[in-house]
Amino acid sequence: MGNTEGAGKEHPTQKPLPLMLWCLSFLPKAQTILDHFMGSGTTGVACANLGREFIGIEREPKYFDIACRRIARAQAQGQLLPPEPVAAPEQQTMEL
Ligand SMILES: C[S@@+](CC[C@H](N)C(=O)[O-])C[C@H]1O[C@@H](n2cnc3c(N)ncnc32)[C@H](O)[C@@H]1O
Repeated sequence: MGNTEGAGKEHPTQKPLPLMLWCLSFLPKAQTILDHFMGSGTTGVACANLGREFIGIEREPKYFDIACRRIARAQAQGQLLPPEPVAAPEQQTMEL
């Protein structure tokens, strides 16, 4: 199998990649995603697949290294999906 995603968990609570892709679909305007509990980096892998910028924070060096390896591999593979259209910024006002 060329894509090793799904080949086995590297973190006890590792999320499925399709789940994180689905979660990110709720944030179509977010060009940079922050995951401050990165674990094995599934959110970062999803961002690489979608062409989004990613910032990850993980306190366990073992999982940080796993996340970096998974994300680097995903970035090397390039985007699996066409780039998402980015909406033009719009200013919103609040009724006071
Ligand atoms: C539920 S796991 C994340 C799993 C991740 N979504 C994945 O797919 O692999 C939460 C992670 O947050 C890390 N963590 C917990 N407290 C933290 C903290 N204060 N700062 C940074 N990382 C933390 C844990 O080490 C753990 O790896």
